Amino acid sequence: MQPDAIYAICGFDDIPNRRARGFDLMVVDDEGNQRPWPIVVIRWSKKVLGYVNKCPHNSVKLDWERNEFLDPYGVRLMCGKHGSTFELSTGRCVEGQCKGRVLTPIALTVLDGEICVVGVRLVEDDAPSDA
Ligand code: FES
Repeated sequence: MQPDAIYAICGFDDIPNRRARGFDLMVVDDEGNQRPWPIVVIRWSKKVLGYVNKCPHNSVKLDWERNEFLDPYGVRLMCGKHGSTFELSTGRCVEGQCKGRVLTPIALTVLDGEICVVGVRLVEDDAPSDA
């Protein structure tokens, strides 16, 4: 187990400023089971924010059109099914079906121009043999 492993998922410049992109990753849980872990990553100027891509009220992905995560003003995340909107900085639903509930935040960092996921154990396509 590598609790402090860092996984690069894309280049910082692969997500344009003020846009969001989804990633369908797999994680290994504490029991060693693999499970899907869809996430959304938002780039906002020099910052990146991320949440599990699952609405807190009925567990569907937010982007009913692939990678369409933002509301028409481009300032909140939006559920494509219901139009509920979520604050970018907190993940809190401020309008719609799940008002008051929050998206699950994920830990991200930027290293050498790469957006990286930290704090989880991902299933990697090319797992190192020394693990
Ligand atoms: S699935 Fe929860 S607001 Fe749409």
